[in-house]
Parts: sequence; structure tokens; C-alpha cells
Amino acid sequence: MTDPLLSSFASDEDAVAEQSVRPRRLAEFVGQHRVREQLDLLLQSALRRGSPPDHILLSGSPGLGKTTLAMIVAAELGAGLRLTSGPAIERAGDLAAVLTSLSRGDVLFIDEIHRMARPAEELLYSAMEDFRVDVVVGKGPGATAIPLDVEPFTLVGATTRSGLLTGPMRDRFGFVGQLDFYDADELDQVIVRSARILDVPITAEGSAEIGRRSRGTPRIANRLLRRVRDYAEVRGTGVVDLAAARAALAVYDVDELGLDKLDRAVLLALVRAGGGPVGLSTLAVAVGEQPDTVEEVCEPFLLRTGLLARTPRGRVATAGAWRHLGLPVPAGTVGGGNPAGGSTQMPDLFSLEP
Ligand SMILES: Nc1ncnc2c1ncn2[C@@H]1O[C@H](COP(=O)(O)OP(=O)(O)OP(=O)(O)O)[C@@H](O)[C@H]1O
Ligand SMILES: [Mg+2]
Repeated sequence: MTDPLLSSFASDEDAVAEQSVRPRRLAEFVGQHRVREQLDLLLQSALRRGSPPDHILLSGSPGLGKTTLAMIVAAELGAGLRLTSGPAIERAGDLAAVLTSLSRGDVLFIDEIHRMARPAEELLYSAMEDFRVDVVVGKGPGATAIPLDVEPFTLVGATTRSGLLTGPMRDRFGFVGQLDFYDADELDQVIVRSARILDVPITAEGSAEIGRRSRGTPRIANRLLRRVRDYAEVRGTGVVDLAAARAALAVYDVDELGLDKLDRAVLLALVRAGGGPVGLSTLAVAVGEQPDTVEEVCEPFLLRTGLLARTPRGRVATAGAWRHLGLPVPAGTVGGGNPAGGSTQMPDLFSLEP
């Protein structure tokens, strides 16, 4: 079985490094203050009552800490943890086997829960609500449903696309935590903490620079830290300082705002189309990626920084995007009337998101 936790890593060495810097307890988890406080209350009260807490849904862009939080939930409860993912559960029977083997109080983590097959999802409903499942044996008129008990457990579901979850699924979670992008200060803290664990010498300017350019994402912050460390060891003084950070990030095509090649390709494609609007599938073809990747990986951050806006007719490049690419802003561009100029933070654009 492939380990869903490892599938998204570039190399084994990186995978090991990711594991070692992963926060184990809620107190070590940086940022996300609201979600952290709410989870803390949920877990503390469950511990007092001596019964498993309500089911927990975590949603947010890749690398913001969903898997980390799921593991923390189990650790804080002192509970056993079972890991699986939506795409790995092909048949309802696969899920029934997992559910009926749970011990009392276990945490079951289902990653990418929005990609679970429908029959399995229906089986999960009854397990979540009544702690029982009906396993169908046989086919046709002779088929019988055998009810099986499931020990009380806590489901932790993770999704990058909460909009794709069905209503009944969503309703069965007693707690929904929406993870947001991190600010530069929080990423700075993540980097300082990781550098300490990995024994990487780092200066305050070095970590601040990496934090500022990590796309609001702890996983990227940790990855860039390792790449800057490589650079510092091979071409620098061995210390992750401002000079090493700047030089290394240039080598890895990470720009001033932390945009990577694909982010810039998306903005360029929009600009080449006169700024848009451009439909998602056309945009995906233009940058040679799957529409899902553009929508789940690229867009949330570009929306967040106000470089891209969604309109009913498609995606558009904002004035900030034209400026970021060093191009003159055409008249009538979204955000073009902003006399402050230069600023890429345009919170008023969030309201355009459907
Ligand atoms: N709040 C945090 N504080 C410190 N480190 C964090 C935090 N959140 C995430 N990380 C680090 O970022 C890495 C990625 O986090 P995680 O695997 O939990 O993301 P994810 O949301 O599950 O992503 P995906 O959607 O790709 O599965 C972790 O290895 C962890 O080291
Ligand atoms: Mg994950």
C-alpha cells in the first residue's frame, strides 16, 4: 500500500525531513489561532467526559497542516490512529473492514475525503452517526445485509476542496476547521523551529526572507529552508542568512512574492489574453496543467494575494498582476483604480470568489 503521507514528497530525504519537523502537539503547532483554540476546547472536553470527541473536518490548501493536525488530535487524546485516504477506499467493503477493526476511541484519518467512492461514503454515514455498518453479503435477490457494530471512534477528514463534499457528509461533522494561509511572521516561526530541529544555522534575516516568500504555506517554508541550506553549504558560508536566501531562491525560481513558475505562468497566460476573463480549462491548457491543479494549488494563493480575481465569466488578472510582471496596467483592469498602487493585498477581491 502506498503511504498517502509520503506521496507528495520530492525525495526520500525530504520525506524524512518533513516527518522530523512535523509538530506533534497542539502547543507546537504555529498559527491558525482560531482553529487551534476551538480544537483545544473540543479535545479537552472530550478528555474530561472520557468519550471520543465529535467528528472533525479539516479543509484548506495543500501543505497548510491538515495531516499534521489529524495526528495531533490522536496524540492529544492519547488515542490510536488509523490512516487512509478517499482514493484508497475503492469499495464499501474496504471501508467496512477498516471501521470494524477500530478499537474504542481510535482516530480514523481519511485524507482527500472528497474523493471517496459514493457507496463507501454511504456506509461511512451510518458509522459516523450510529456506530454501525450494514455489510451486504451476496448479490441479487439472495443478498443480505449483516449489521455490524463499530466501536465509538472519531473521524478526522481532510479535504482541499470542501465545496466538493456532499451535504450529508458535511452535516455529520461536529467540527469544521478551515485552515488559512499563514502570514510571514508565522512562517518565520515555522522556519526557526525547523532549523533548530534540523540543526541548520540561520540568521533572523535569513528566516524572515524565506518566510516572506513561502506562499503562505508551512510545507513550502520547510522545503525552501532545506534548499537554502543546500545553497549555503555548497556556495555560501554554511549559514542560512539573507544573502544565501536571496541567491538560492533565485536559483529555484521563487520570486519576490513567493510565486513559483506555475503561478507566474498562470498570470502570464491571463495577461496574454488581455487580462481575461479566461475559463479554467482554457487556462489549464495554456499552462500545460490539469484544471484541478490550477484550481487547487495555484488559484487560492493568487486570489489571496489579490493578483487574480474570479468573475462569472472566468479568471482575470488584476492590476497587481500586471504590475508584478512589470507591465503597464491597461485601463479598466480590476484593482486598477487603486491609487495606493504597488499593494498586492486587495481584500475587496475576496468577495468575487463564488
Ligand atoms: N502550523 C504548523 N506549524 C508548524 N509546522 C507546520 C504547521 N502546519 C504544517 N506544518 C509543516 O508543514 C508540513 C505539511 O503539513 P501537512 O502535511 O499537515 O499539510 P496538509 O494540509 O496535510 O497538506 P496536503 O493537503 O498536501 O496533504 C508538515 O510536515 C509540517 O512540518
Ligand atoms: Mg496531508
